[in-house]
Amino acid sequence: MAKAKMIVDKDFKLAKIDKRIYGSFIEHLGRAVYNGIYQPGHPSADEDGFRKDVLELVKELDVPIIRYPGGNFVSNFFWEDSVGPKGERKPRLDLAWRTLETNEFGLGEFAKWTKKANSEIMMAVNLGTRGIADALNLLEYCNLDTNSYYSDLRKSHGVKEPYNIKTWCLGNEMDGPWQMGHKTATEYGRLAAETAKAMKTMDSSIELVSCGSSNVEMPTFPEWEATTLEETYDYVDYISLHNYYGNAENDTEDFFAKTQDLERFIHTVIATCDYVKAKKRSKKTLNLSFDEWNVWFHAMASDNEEMEKRPWQIAPHLLEDIYDYEDAILVGLILITFLKHADRLKMACLAQLVNVIAPIMTENDGGAWKQTIYYPFLHASKYGRGIALQSVVNSTKHDSAKHEDVTDIESVAVYNEEKDEVTIFAVNRNIKEDALFEADVRSFEGYRVLEYIALENDDMKIVNSITGEKVSPIGRTDYELKDGIFTTTMKKCSWNVIRFGK
Ligand code: AHR
Repeated sequence: MAKAKMIVDKDFKLAKIDKRIYGSFIEHLGRAVYNGIYQPGHPSADEDGFRKDVLELVKELDVPIIRYPGGNFVSNFFWEDSVGPKGERKPRLDLAWRTLETNEFGLGEFAKWTKKANSEIMMAVNLGTRGIADALNLLEYCNLDTNSYYSDLRKSHGVKEPYNIKTWCLGNEMDGPWQMGHKTATEYGRLAAETAKAMKTMDSSIELVSCGSSNVEMPTFPEWEATTLEETYDYVDYISLHNYYGNAENDTEDFFAKTQDLERFIHTVIATCDYVKAKKRSKKTLNLSFDEWNVWFHAMASDNEEMEKRPWQIAPHLLEDIYDYEDAILVGLILITFLKHADRLKMACLAQLVNVIAPIMTENDGGAWKQTIYYPFLHASKYGRGIALQSVVNSTKHDSAKHEDVTDIESVAVYNEEKDEVTIFAVNRNIKEDALFEADVRSFEGYRVLEYIALENDDMKIVNSITGEKVSPIGRTDYELKDGIFTTTMKKCSWNVIRFGK
């Protein structure tokens, strides 16, 4: 039988978790904005045309920061088209997804929506087809109250107070040949450094994210990070990581092992940042913003055909991956991996939030519903706040098709001092065996189990839909807590959340 022993000790503190690791992403892509968060005329639309059914689900997820407006979309985005009186806004071609952008929903609408969603904006600037001046104009429009042209323009649009957007991405995936205005590392490094310098001169309170590689498979990874950081290191606060996972081979065991690659990816980026730090004799430590991550592969082939054969539609169905049970388990594994790196990973964005590779889906003529991946994200966002404890876990291991020594149990614990609670997140990724799980929680004297939530299923391909949730959490009672030792049997392929408190 698979088994694992974990020590959860309140003195083994790794780091305070930055709540922004539970961020997400809304891009002008497919039905994320139109018929997603915004649909005037829908029965649930409020006075601004925002779907209240969607807002409720977003609020339940408690997403502290949302990246906008792209993604690939941002690399040919003319932000000026998206502000001011709606009747005067011009439609534009979006070259990233070959659709027609009406600009009916823009920056001002998104700012209003994020407020209603209890969230903040992570704004990306276009460093693909535009540059320093446009980034500065946008920053002035958003953050300044200076009686100058763009600050006044915002006021003339009825927004007296600046939006005060704190976090800014210097472009998106600029290493990718698919990107409008794709650049070499040297070209991007210079442009990003000069843009960063100028932006911080205008508003020193902002934080900036330098573009890392588009994914770990890029041939230029990690040389891209080393070269670009040589230029940007002194002026930025984070470097971005992006990666999507898939199970095109239909090999569940190997799919679940892919967080081993994620671990290596994170370690390599940290090592590269620290190499540049050492080379520059810098005192500053750069942190990580994993601002695009998720499972993405189900709808790829049909999306490519749609964009190729039927371009320039408004809000077509694109990237509408329907997630199954095993995708939810991988999302849980990714969240555990992030928590294990809470000392350096300070922001992360589940890509994306609504309709486009998303936990929340909508029907144009109906309601909103939760995909399978909604639940591990909800649990982590809700109970994964506080201090990440050092993960001391001794687990049995197995090999998969492309990975060796894969731990059966992956787990991490989070200590919420304010609430006097500690939560263990654990996945049994063994696809054949249930696992005996033991956690030593003796340092949390007087704590009892508040709740044990799990996702369990034998059908890896089962999905949720508007008509019903076949995957949803269950409460478990078959465990023991005796003399500070917690024991249970974790079902094979399961997501487990064990909450202790006084
Ligand atoms: O999230 C979908 C796309 O994935 C984004 O637009 C891009 O940045 C990435 O390649």
